[in-house]
Amino acid sequence: MPAPATVAPAPHSSILCVVGARPNFMKMAPIMAALADIGPELATSLVHTGQHYDVAMNHQYFEALGIPQPDINLEVGSGSHAAQTAEVMRRFEPALDEKRPSAVLVVGDVNSTLACALVATKKGIPVIHVEAGLRSFDRAMPEEINRILTDQISDLLFTTERSGRENLLREGIDASRIHFVGNVMIDTLRRNLDRAIPPSRILENAGRGAILANHEGYAVLTMHRPSNVDDPATLRALLETVLKIAPHLPVIFPMHPRTRAMVEKFGLGEMLKVPELVLLPPMGYLEMLGLMKDARLVLTDSGGIQEETTALGVPCITLRDNTERPVTVDEGTNTIAGQDPARILAAFEEIMQGGGKAGRVPEFWDGQAATRIAAAIQGWLGNGSRR
Ligand code: UD1
Repeated sequence: MPAPATVAPAPHSSILCVVGARPNFMKMAPIMAALADIGPELATSLVHTGQHYDVAMNHQYFEALGIPQPDINLEVGSGSHAAQTAEVMRRFEPALDEKRPSAVLVVGDVNSTLACALVATKKGIPVIHVEAGLRSFDRAMPEEINRILTDQISDLLFTTERSGRENLLREGIDASRIHFVGNVMIDTLRRNLDRAIPPSRILENAGRGAILANHEGYAVLTMHRPSNVDDPATLRALLETVLKIAPHLPVIFPMHPRTRAMVEKFGLGEMLKVPELVLLPPMGYLEMLGLMKDARLVLTDSGGIQEETTALGVPCITLRDNTERPVTVDEGTNTIAGQDPARILAAFEEIMQGGGKAGRVPEFWDGQAATRIAAAIQGWLGNGSRR
């Protein structure tokens, strides 16, 4: 007789969840909440690898999103890709031996995602990957390597958009392992929209409140990809383009520590001292949500922000030549502009004149993705979590 599709998990099942860097935190919050709703028969624990360690990159997210305190913090910190990935692996192994979970759940595409998936699978522990199947087809991106390899060694793969399934099938992943569940980051966004911090408060706290009174709206800029910030000529050209936009629409720029370090290293700090450019430290989740929600447009090289702006209906100009999230372009508010000043300024003009792409919210970006994930995990564990 075939096994039922959904049965109660085997008693004493446990999932070890992993976070490492900022974009992981908002994805993990609803997943852990939905897993907790299953009840006492499924235990969860949380490992923080410590890839991101600044207060601004950490605590504001854990507190604001109600993520449980990590059971274990591996405190790996920064390093080259090899050093960081290796250190996560080395320190994660004893944590895994201690917890002996039924499965390890990783999210996204950061170095911690791949490192922990690799350790788990080699110890015979099944891997669950949330946000599987996204592909930029640009192997110069460290995240693309992390995505491809993590998916290859995952046992259960949850996708956010339909392109994910096609990509995974093309790479030989068995269809029975793939579940299209929607976007957990949008679960978090919907859950917290009412709590978003008003931009007026953020700017007043930064002593720049007047900028809202004197202009009709503002743009938000985020930029931290090595391809945009690690090369002085590229970074300078992007910042010069931003300085052409700012007199028409003030730009609020919360700076990632990597970007700040590069601006200092290349001596670009002086050129950024203009009245219509507001430099801020990295924002907490609710601050960033508030800034994006009310922005006229967002300029970014982040993957997550392409999705969040699509969910919010706010026009987004992506400062990259590609996206692993094509639904944000095909259905959402995203325009790919790359690093070319002419393309960026043309996209800016179009939004200023026409309001930008109307867009619609993609399928299953409805706030219920984590509930679907929890249900699928429950069924999978009940069926013996076959490898
Ligand atoms: C990482 C992810 C990237 C994600 C980004 C979001 C990888 C390969 N990259 O990139 O996908 O979009 O996080 O933020 O995993 N730093 C601090 N404090 C911190 C963390 C980092 O000052 O808490 C500085 C350090 O100088 C460090 C640099 O930022 O060397 C880069 O940090 P790292 O974690 O290596 O990568 P990110 O650029 O943050």
